[in-house]
Amino acid sequence: MDAALRDILIKMPKAELHMHIEGSLEPELIFALAKRNGVTLDYPSVEALRRAYAFTDLQSFLDIYYAGASVLLKEQDFYDMTWAYLERARADNVRHAEIFFDPQTHTDRGVPFATAITGIHRALRDAEAKWGMSTGLIMCFLRHLSEEEAFATLEQAMPHRDKFIGVGLDSSERGHPPEKFARVFERCRELGLRLVAHAGEEGPPEYIRTALDLLKVERIDHGVRCLEDSGLTQRLAREKIALTVCPLSNVKLRVFDKASDHNLLKLIEAGLAVTVNSDDPAYFGGYVNDNFVQMFEVLPLEKNHAYQLARNSFSASFLDNQAKRKCLDEVDAFFEQ
Ligand code: HPA
Ligand code: ZN
Repeated sequence: MDAALRDILIKMPKAELHMHIEGSLEPELIFALAKRNGVTLDYPSVEALRRAYAFTDLQSFLDIYYAGASVLLKEQDFYDMTWAYLERARADNVRHAEIFFDPQTHTDRGVPFATAITGIHRALRDAEAKWGMSTGLIMCFLRHLSEEEAFATLEQAMPHRDKFIGVGLDSSERGHPPEKFARVFERCRELGLRLVAHAGEEGPPEYIRTALDLLKVERIDHGVRCLEDSGLTQRLAREKIALTVCPLSNVKLRVFDKASDHNLLKLIEAGLAVTVNSDDPAYFGGYVNDNFVQMFEVLPLEKNHAYQLARNSFSASFLDNQAKRKCLDEVDAFFEQ
């Protein structure tokens, strides 16, 4: 890739729509928070923890990811984690970030829902005030837990309704199909929440279809396995359902054997509203710009693709139309230079 294209990828204004805030905890911060809170980790050092980041599939990652989150106890811990991500995102020219958090990972350890959401939300507000970055928080239900537990989490969230814009579905995909959560998503829809779900990452294309039909989600997180089903691919293109694709995550979790096997370009060529995101940047080897640069290095992607991906990131966001137009104008102006 030439230096000019690399520079465009790094500097272009972009939105990030698929990032788990707990997945932004760098090993150094995990150790600092463990020390601050008197939590004992199973790893003797930062280096030993980082060496454990050799994943074979989604579950092997989730086991370490939930262990890493165990150092988060106080509101300030959630603030510090979120602030570190926001500074990193700003350096990557992220103008708008829609951020996932997993409340059940914390409430199941006895950390109050309010502690987690208040700390995260305070950092988001500070980024808006200080830099004009816009943000939105999306609460994810853990799909390996029951629908009843998801309903209980929604109940705990209601006093904080002003702090989040939508709900998602994450964690172990195989064996936990979308229909398990049909009723809780219906309730969320009645409450006016925006809806997304992870589907077609490790799970089959059928999970993408049921996420659309039964959960009525507006975007699909990952969705890369849609290409196994041409009817579904055509439907996603026709209905302009955005896919929040996370290339480095897919390589680390062995959805694709190597970066050059990734289907990002094929998804774009199928007419899909693709976006590029970092998923769990501290665990998967890079933030959003690393995802762009590494894909453009190994696939025949060019400037017109960069332009389309930057535009898609805002078009697929949950910004209101006026804010969207302003961001899209900024993208156009950047590419006209
Ligand atoms: N997939 C499913 N659940 C997750 C992920 C992911 O990539 N990251 C954090 N929770
Ligand atoms: Zn994810």
